[in-house]
Amino acid sequence: MVIKKVIFACMNDVFLSPIAETFYRNVTNSELTEVSSRGLVVLFPEPISPKVNLILSNMGEELCKHGNTTPLIADDITEGTCIITMTLSEKIRVMEEFTKENVYTLGEISGLNIDIADPYGKDDSAYTECVELVKKAVIKTVAKIRAINGGKGMIAIGCDHGGYLLKQEIMEHLDAREVAYVDVGCNSEESCDYPIFAKAVAEKVVSGECEKGIIICGTGIGVSITANKFKGIRAALCHDTFSAEATRLHNDANVLTMGARVVGAGLALKIVDTFLDTPFSEEERHIRRISMIEE
Ligand code: RB5
Repeated sequence: MVIKKVIFACMNDVFLSPIAETFYRNVTNSELTEVSSRGLVVLFPEPISPKVNLILSNMGEELCKHGNTTPLIADDITEGTCIITMTLSEKIRVMEEFTKENVYTLGEISGLNIDIADPYGKDDSAYTECVELVKKAVIKTVAKIRAINGGKGMIAIGCDHGGYLLKQEIMEHLDAREVAYVDVGCNSEESCDYPIFAKAVAEKVVSGECEKGIIICGTGIGVSITANKFKGIRAALCHDTFSAEATRLHNDANVLTMGARVVGAGLALKIVDTFLDTPFSEEERHIRRISMIEE
């Protein structure tokens, strides 16, 4: 789906959603998508919190263009609308009352994986901390939406329990590089079955939702075998940067697999960088050989 319109929603549209809307507008210069903010329990319109523009002006940001608080209504949701709530309970409410399609929490779509709670009643430092968090999440969301809409650059990442800690390091590294990714799990070091997560990554790449995948298990072998069962997947197990470079140049590999019990994080991050930054050579002999894989 192409996201044409983003609606940030919180309970009353007084503080968090207008802030998120403004950051989104400021980051994208509105060139990407239409953006607005809405409330889930707005009974009558009232002015948004004066703190919104006070904090934005202290941060040197453009001020909020949103007028009074506005309730979310069914007519707001048209094809290509993505609704982004601040908390999971708000997401559930939107899903129960409006639509189950393209509803995310800001933590979820940004990859920060946290609920963003309204600092109402707390001191100024809590407000500032919360606004900084919203800004960080919105910047990552813009990168994610750009990737979804352009289909380019989006990474699917997954692991089993053996790869969990290395996956966390890789995600931090992707964050620092501002590379958008979707994490398909697993979410802890508790023992689990690697094919589930290898398949989830492969499906996202095959469907075109993601351009490339990264999968980590203990050895990198089980996830590589699993992913390579999918037509169109060329998963390469790489534990050195030479292989990572060569597999991009020669095989146009679209999934990188690594074993967390084989490589340390330092080398793994260099392998990730090499894999992401090396383009396919486009040489005729390599194109021919890759087509022969699919025959
Ligand atoms: C799990 O112990 C281990 O078998 C798995 O992480 C992977 O190495 C499989 O290939």
